[in-house]
Amino acid sequence: MDKILVTIPLFDEVVERLRQHFEVETCGEQAITAPGELAARLQGKAGMVVAGTPQVDALLLQACPGLRAVCSMAVGYNNIDVPACTARGVLVSNAPDVLTETTADFGFALMMATARRISESEHFLRAGQWTQWRYDLFAGADVHGATLGVLGMGRIGQAIARRGALGFGMPVIYHNRSRLDGAIEAELGARWVDKPSLLREADHLVIVVPYSPASHHLIGAEELALMKPSATLTNIARGGVVDDAALAEALRARRIAAAGLDVFEGEPSVHPALLTVPNVVLTPHIASASLRTRRAMADLAADNLIAALGRGPQAGRPPTALNPEVLAPG
Ligand code: GLV
Repeated sequence: MDKILVTIPLFDEVVERLRQHFEVETCGEQAITAPGELAARLQGKAGMVVAGTPQVDALLLQACPGLRAVCSMAVGYNNIDVPACTARGVLVSNAPDVLTETTADFGFALMMATARRISESEHFLRAGQWTQWRYDLFAGADVHGATLGVLGMGRIGQAIARRGALGFGMPVIYHNRSRLDGAIEAELGARWVDKPSLLREADHLVIVVPYSPASHHLIGAEELALMKPSATLTNIARGGVVDDAALAEALRARRIAAAGLDVFEGEPSVHPALLTVPNVVLTPHIASASLRTRRAMADLAADNLIAALGRGPQAGRPPTALNPEVLAPG
């Protein structure tokens, strides 16, 4: 029986399902992220379940020659060197689609909390500072009717745009490497603009681009300087897409009104300057975290691993493989 390693705390039911096919080693309550420990615990394992961490790179693959499948329950897979895996015949899968709507709900909620200053006002109330009604008490920015800017118009970006356009009457502008199909643009009432126009025109900017070296610090001091002083920025993409130090400074100096951040450079550490500015809503990378969706993501990772290692009804055909060619016959 193949042995596998589950590197993250996972639903008991999903671990049980994996045990029907494999000898399963789990990590307990603490995810395995340190490269040395990961390489040691992967010895003799044919597969592993991961999420947005740890790093799976050529060095790790070299140290673990028996590894045949790396299955992630995250949609973003910037922690996995897919070409290096392909070169060694290691199947990689991620977990797209099952989290799209849940993540879009959260992106929209975070944008609304940011625009309407929900965290900041709750802290004020909890601190016993609420002594009177005032016309300007935590007066924020409207969401309905404001211009929604979406940077990265993939599945999640489109789901956010749909919420804004259809639910809140927001004109939608977006920037993406490739333009959407005309029919989808028409359905969303979305208009493609170049990146500087997106930054200049958006009242609420939501960032949903995958992380790659090309999207590193896509938003830094220069880009923030183009935004309206009344604008908000929401990042549910990945840490590193936004330069957190530059953002903290822009928030401190009120060069933009507020930000909502679910992802951070170097998370779970958070840039200390972000912790000192009041006009930012901070959440610990939970955009896809409804119980139902997290379970669907875990089940999809398990389906992929079972199939990748030649088991179950989809043996040899993992449903969301990123490099299915490694399993192609011949
Ligand atoms: C979460 O960030 C994911 O990529 O699924």
